[in-house]
Amino acid sequence: MLRGARSHLPASVAPAAVLAAALLSSFARCSLPGRGDPVASVLSPYFGTKTRYEDANPWLLVDPVAPRRDPELLAGTCTPVQLVALIRHGTRYPTTKQIRKLKQLQGLLQTRESRDGGSQVAAALAEWPLWYGDWMDGQLVEKGRQDMRQLALRLAALFPDLFSRENYDRLRLITSSKHRCVDSSAAFLQGLWQHYHPGLPPPDVSDMECGPPRINDKLMRFFDHCEKFLTDVERNETALYHVEAFKTGPEMQKVLKKVAATLQVPMNSLNAGNIHAVFPLHSVLSSLEVLNV
Ligand SMILES: *[C@@H]1O[C@H](CO)[C@@H](O)[C@H](O)[C@H]1NC(C)=O
Repeated sequence: MLRGARSHLPASVAPAAVLAAALLSSFARCSLPGRGDPVASVLSPYFGTKTRYEDANPWLLVDPVAPRRDPELLAGTCTPVQLVALIRHGTRYPTTKQIRKLKQLQGLLQTRESRDGGSQVAAALAEWPLWYGDWMDGQLVEKGRQDMRQLALRLAALFPDLFSRENYDRLRLITSSKHRCVDSSAAFLQGLWQHYHPGLPPPDVSDMECGPPRINDKLMRFFDHCEKFLTDVERNETALYHVEAFKTGPEMQKVLKKVAATLQVPMNSLNAGNIHAVFPLHSVLSSLEVLNV
């Protein structure tokens, strides 16, 4: 499915990147990437939890499974170790909600009045074939599976004693019920399988010694279940005051003004919600772009 999408990517990344850069430069004074710059690397540090592993750790581009650690760590000690890792799902498609916002934003560009006289970015984005379909809805992409397999291999190489064959059945994976998280857990286990059985195709996760990942939304999606959080924060207008103040405050107005000027659309047609959609879009594109090289 990705293969079909591929052909649109090279043309689509650049205008989206420039728009993201226009947004980001308002926050962080980063300049527009010049021609030939690796766009993903210039912008990636600004994507927070959506930053690619290889941008956070450039060594991965050299060898994605080589462990890098302080050689002294645990060397020659007799220290009991329990490893607890909180792992985010791998690279995924945008969600249906994000796709809808992007389509709205593009609709805005297509109906804008001043079509000539300037912004190539706006023109390119208006013409851009939005190849996202609702079915994609935040699902893991193949690169996301690879992220997880390689993460498993790195962890296993980093803690060889902990990830020994004898310990395999002591491993416990807990995941939320989100399909991208369940799929990430399965890919992680398949990566470990590669570690123990190089060259053999991994079986279904339900047939592995450690058992399949266990779904526990009460733990992994505590924000949907924790009554205290729901009443004290999520449904509490006072607690969320600063979120609203930020969305409508002077800094956001500055960003909206800048983006409206770049896209040549009326400023009142933009708000914090619809321009926020550009962030996941660009983080997804800069990750998927890797598939083209
Ligand atoms: C709502 O949030 C405010 C500010 O954080 C806090 O002082 C207040 O106790 C919260 N209300 C409830 C019902 O938890």
